[in-house]
Amino acid sequence: MINDNKLEDIRISLEQHIKELELKGNPPELYDPITYLMGLGGKRIRPLLTLLAYGLYKEDYQKVLTPAAAIEVFHNFTLMHDDIMDNAPLRRGKATVHEKWDDNTAILSGDVMLVKAYDLFLSITPEYLKESLQLFSKTAAEVCEGQQMDMNFENREFVSEAEYLNMIRLKTAVLLGFSLQLGAVLAGASKEDSNHLYDFGVNIGVAFQLKDDLLDVYADKEKFGKQVGGDILANKKTYLLVKANELAEGSVNENLQKWINSTSFNPEEKVKAVTSIYDQLQIKEKTLELMDDYFERGFNQLSSLQVKNTAGLQLLQNLTHNLANREK
Ligand code: IPE
Ligand code: IPE
Ligand code: MG
Ligand code: MG
Ligand code: MG
Repeated sequence: MINDNKLEDIRISLEQHIKELELKGNPPELYDPITYLMGLGGKRIRPLLTLLAYGLYKEDYQKVLTPAAAIEVFHNFTLMHDDIMDNAPLRRGKATVHEKWDDNTAILSGDVMLVKAYDLFLSITPEYLKESLQLFSKTAAEVCEGQQMDMNFENREFVSEAEYLNMIRLKTAVLLGFSLQLGAVLAGASKEDSNHLYDFGVNIGVAFQLKDDLLDVYADKEKFGKQVGGDILANKKTYLLVKANELAEGSVNENLQKWINSTSFNPEEKVKAVTSIYDQLQIKEKTLELMDDYFERGFNQLSSLQVKNTAGLQLLQNLTHNLANREK
């Protein structure tokens, strides 16, 4: 209970800080989409991970709210561009930026968000600035690499589980790893601890994307806030499809390939048919199994930390459990 209150306090401070970021300007067509997307909320996982990692070592998390918020700005930039790339109509229950405005607006607003993210990182004390920016730049390039692989895979017939795992490590997991590592670096933690926190983040990040893939098919439409079935319509090589391609045999496989290769179809029908193939092959259960496995690997990293802060670790564990059980 004390822990729940503490997490809530941190969440409120972060939300307030994000609201006060100076992300407005002229022309409004460039800046309004930023306020719009950032204002639609979101779980704020990444900055929370930074603040909780920092909190393992130091009490004054208020000092690192700006770099934490910078990660959220960067994340929202990737979402703005990702929604163009994925042709997604909905984000956080509302129209995506490229739907509400247009593609060019979403491209340029996204670009300026990346610039703003760097600008916010400049608030970091000189002692840790260079290391932080180097880690961030490496991470940001990896996210782009993962996103390109994601696009390449849409047009590939077969993607192996190993290739898939590497792609999601890059597009999603390393940013969670970096978020935790940054918290550790800014708190002056040891290299060992900062590496364990990074590895914790990458493992739970892989689990996080597995859950994201699962929700894309099985979420409750009212709660999800994104288009259910969007990945199926785009032939995304999600874990679900990678596994189904591997396990389907005979007529089930023929049916699956027919839907994947079909160029003219009723979208609802395709989503329904592919979901039913996933059901037959028990793909949901298999995805959950692998997800649990990666959460477990993450938790193992936490037990190797030198820092002994039971309450702080509990907060990190609670947040991670919430990720595993989330519905959006
Ligand atoms: C969505 O991220 C993109 C992925 C990497 C799966 P989140 O699920 O964290 O989205 P918000 O920020 O909470 O909306
Ligand atoms: C996106 O993965 C990862 C990044 C934004 C870098 P998805 O494309 O699965 O994310 P959602 O489902 O649109 O949020
Ligand atoms: Mg995508
Ligand atoms: Mg997407
Ligand atoms: Mg997704």
